[in-house]
Amino acid sequence: MSQKIVLMSSPEYFKVEYAINPWMVPGTNVDLELAKNQWNGLKRTIEEAGAEVKVVPPNENHPDLVFTANSGIIKGNDVLIANFKFEERRGEEEIYLKWFEENEYNVSRIPSDYKFEGRGDAFVYGDYLVGSYGVRSDKEALLYIAEHFELEPVIVELAQEKFYHLDTCFQHFSNGHAIFYPEAFKDNSLSAFSELFELIPVSESDANELACNAVVIEDTVIFPSENIDVIKAVENLGLTSKVANVSEFLKSGGACQCLVIALN
Ligand code: ARG
Repeated sequence: MSQKIVLMSSPEYFKVEYAINPWMVPGTNVDLELAKNQWNGLKRTIEEAGAEVKVVPPNENHPDLVFTANSGIIKGNDVLIANFKFEERRGEEEIYLKWFEENEYNVSRIPSDYKFEGRGDAFVYGDYLVGSYGVRSDKEALLYIAEHFELEPVIVELAQEKFYHLDTCFQHFSNGHAIFYPEAFKDNSLSAFSELFELIPVSESDANELACNAVVIEDTVIFPSENIDVIKAVENLGLTSKVANVSEFLKSGGACQCLVIALN
């Protein structure tokens, strides 16, 4: 398989100046030097795991642009750009659209009344569109995307504002296993996903560390903190675990996976 490529955006203008999820307290002091070091640490860990990192330039007016996971959904060379739920992030759509166009993707939009927040809430998995709706993204958006990309939708409803994107409460690995936080889903057993993944529940304490917001590069899983119990279980599956502490970004409700989108 060709080398994995991911997209990130550097945190020069990262801050918490508005609140669009329960993790965000406007005016919270972000230690920008620490945030930059943590971001570089994550980037380095991803590169050491064997992936190439491309970077979207930061933008002064868009502190949440660092969370590239929300840029859209990618299938091969085709991209559907996000329709952000909150006005605060809508300006990012043009920035991502331009980046994907300049990098020779076929870029399209979904109908503007369907809210959709990219890899935050959905990803392509073989012939399936795996996704969640109910907090940030709309069910109609996921159904539209599934039809556009000719995928079978496997979608579930989220239950809590705190776990507002699928990637805050679910992650799957290269070996078909996946971790999830049961309370984050309307159906606590996540039975809709059980055909596709071997599901491993995480504790509330792990969920609050955003354990499921781990980056997966082949057989390496990069977790956002050492204080995560499920790391042991993941190692016992034969996977390699790494930690890239991104505590400054948790102040905005995001961790490792939110800061990254896989381009292939
Ligand atoms: N502050 C950002 C927001 O609330 C964080 C986004 C995190 N991204 C993610 N893929 N979960 O929109």
